[in-house]
Amino acid sequence: MLGLILSVMSLHSVAFSGPDPHSFSRPEEARITHLELDLYLDFDRRVIRGTAVLHFQAVPGARALILDTRGLLIHQVTLDDDNQPVPFSLGVPDEVLGQALEIRLKSESRKVRIVYETAPEAAALQWLDPQQTAGGQRPFLYTQSQAILCRSWIPIQDSPGIRFTYKARVSTQPGMLALMSARNPQALNPDGLYEFDMPYPIPAYLMALASGRLAFGALDARTGVYAEPETLPLALKDFADTPRMLATAERLYGPYPWGRYDILVMPPSFPFGGMENPCLTFATPTILTGDKSLTSLIAHELAHSWSGNLATNATWNDFWLNEGFTVFLERRIMEELYGRDYADMLEVLGYGDLLSTLEELEKEGRIDDTRLKLQLEGRDPDDGMNDIAYEKGYLLLRQLQRWMGREAMDGLLKQWFSLHMFKSITTEQFTDFLSHEVSPEILQVVKPYQWIYDTGLPFHEKPRSQAFESVAAGAEDFVKNNTLPAGWQSWNSHKRQHFLRCLLQESLTPDRLARLDEALALTNSPNAEELFLWFQIALKSGYMDVLPRLDEFLLQVGRRKFVLPLIRTLLEQPALKAWTTERFHIAWRPRYHAVTARSVEKLMP
Ligand code: BES
Ligand code: ZN
Repeated sequence: MLGLILSVMSLHSVAFSGPDPHSFSRPEEARITHLELDLYLDFDRRVIRGTAVLHFQAVPGARALILDTRGLLIHQVTLDDDNQPVPFSLGVPDEVLGQALEIRLKSESRKVRIVYETAPEAAALQWLDPQQTAGGQRPFLYTQSQAILCRSWIPIQDSPGIRFTYKARVSTQPGMLALMSARNPQALNPDGLYEFDMPYPIPAYLMALASGRLAFGALDARTGVYAEPETLPLALKDFADTPRMLATAERLYGPYPWGRYDILVMPPSFPFGGMENPCLTFATPTILTGDKSLTSLIAHELAHSWSGNLATNATWNDFWLNEGFTVFLERRIMEELYGRDYADMLEVLGYGDLLSTLEELEKEGRIDDTRLKLQLEGRDPDDGMNDIAYEKGYLLLRQLQRWMGREAMDGLLKQWFSLHMFKSITTEQFTDFLSHEVSPEILQVVKPYQWIYDTGLPFHEKPRSQAFESVAAGAEDFVKNNTLPAGWQSWNSHKRQHFLRCLLQESLTPDRLARLDEALALTNSPNAEELFLWFQIALKSGYMDVLPRLDEFLLQVGRRKFVLPLIRTLLEQPALKAWTTERFHIAWRPRYHAVTARSVEKLMP
């Protein structure tokens, strides 16, 4: 008994001293290289049952293969092609990290076979009732593995620094399609059985699976959209520029190495805007507007095909290398497609997000989370990942571009990706790269070390948008003179968002907002970004007519970026606190993915 306790304790301490503080695995001893999955999706019991065969490389004398798991029920472990079960041990469960699964190796072992099933409350998975889908006919299942949730549906070395190839067989209900972050089927198979192949090595956070009543529509020969049949026509229309985005990204950063690029339109409860699963971006339906106005999100997820999926942050402390680079690429792509003015608007909106995040983190005493290089050890990585990685990371690259020039910056990025194809990278590798490739004079003015390791915002030129100037004037005219914005109908969504953000700073009376609502039909806006801003303005000013629509929105949409600030604002209104708490527990929460549910729960009184 004592021996067991000691071995469990040593497991724990070793895991924390490894290169990735969020994985129990010891890749320097035994490291996985290939995964074969065979999964059965049990919609009645809401569990996935299956086997995972993990191929690995081990150093001579390696004693154990260590995997990450969370809530998995391990039925059996066998080694190589031997059918005789071998003993395994599960470490002490950690609320965030889960449990280490330790498998003792024999000297010649090269693969393990694990028979297992997921827990009904597995954090990566959301099982949806038919009513939560557009068609309302069939259930839906999807996974969200980033940052460290893959371990709740696959026993795996769940670290972004460990890559493996995979093959999978998935059995779902007949009449439904199954899709993964791999080469995907385009048509239904009557028996509900599908096969997948990902021949390029990827980290565990990019493992993804979705299954539902889905149809495929092509955009061109190598890009397309999967969605429920009800949503597919609108999605094909909104995403029509994807082939041009892909061609532009290739021209800037080198050939797209993943074969196909498809987009899966998720049910509205999906907790993120988008997720860059290789070959198949998962995207929230809240970007479907009919006018392509929110598709910079597609450029973003597509850009991750280079920044993130090819050159991958080594640990979650280096998250800004994934997201800051991706925001830069996203805006570069959007500028090529739609021009400088358009990219300027995106930049100013992003800068606004950055300033409010900085203010919020300062208010909460979380100043350490304003560094680019994070210190997430001992914490849930999800708690430290915020707009800083995206927008402060972006601003650093923008400052570099300012001094190096556009062409040199494009070249620098292209070189960076080609040097790190299918590799993990640390922040320190990036600063080394800069010191070799960028002149000391430029580094001295830009000060990348200060950007990366210090809190707050170093010196930078403030983003500006000329197109927003008249919009801001319109907002001021409404605030001061109650004049309705004459340009509204001709404004694109970014201008409208800028107008609404200006109003969010002001205090206005309910009757003035009622007048604005009547003129601009804001409560009925089909654009989720505009609706989101409008709800906040309305709540802050006590314009309660929005409540029925807001209730409906929070019931349908689980995108955390919207849900969290809305519920926070609701809770700030004394008159709405009890109602909000009750609606959350009885109505909204049961429809959210664990990622959103968990974040909102922390706000609850
Ligand atoms: N990879 C992220 C989503 C993510 C980050 C999931 C951290 C889990 C942990 C994705 O690429 C992303 O950044 N999505 C953004 C959209 C983007 C346009 C800023 C989102 O979901 O809002
Ligand atoms: Zn991203």
